[in-house]
Amino acid sequence: MSVRRLVPGLGPDSFEFTPENQEWAQKQIAKYPAGRQQSAVIPLLDQAQRQMDGWLPEAAVRYVADYLDMPYIRVYEVATFYTMFNLKPVGKVHVQVCGTTPCWLRGAEDLKEVCRRKMGVDKDQGPSEDGTYSWTEMECLGACVNAPMIQVDDETYEDLTVERFEALLDELAKDKSAPKTGPQIDRQFSAPAGGPTVLKKGDA
Ligand code: FES
Repeated sequence: MSVRRLVPGLGPDSFEFTPENQEWAQKQIAKYPAGRQQSAVIPLLDQAQRQMDGWLPEAAVRYVADYLDMPYIRVYEVATFYTMFNLKPVGKVHVQVCGTTPCWLRGAEDLKEVCRRKMGVDKDQGPSEDGTYSWTEMECLGACVNAPMIQVDDETYEDLTVERFEALLDELAKDKSAPKTGPQIDRQFSAPAGGPTVLKKGDA
């Protein structure tokens, strides 16, 4: 895991939620008891990141701090601690490759090599030349049983091979909503590949 810092001077000088996001933020804050509005810091940072096309400039971090009446340093700590927050611009398709042991044992290094080859940038180096892709490495994303896997936005793509991953990147670049999500082989969720192996109907 590398040191994560905001890049001084990068991004707009100011940031403000859109009216729709202001309304959304008020609803999130209302979920918490009076005096506990700061508990909404992660959802608000996440929404700011979505509004900024996938990354959080310093202006957005300060805006969320002011919005929740928190010291800047407290929000800065959250934004730099959680790897779900991107501290510099990302490509249209930002790929999070899980590199933790189960995925590593099942081919994560090959997926990382595909990223380097296809995007022309290394992890955390920002968008590819045409702005289409960027990638980073994550710790376990919670789908180890279907390793190796990646995440893009809110979706995961699992049971990947080099060939399937290369094709998936092309599909995501054309239309992020098009590719099948979850397992990329013939299995239901995390059920055994090839169908049930125990307690089959009719078994003695
Ligand atoms: S190790 Fe990759 S999802 Fe858990």
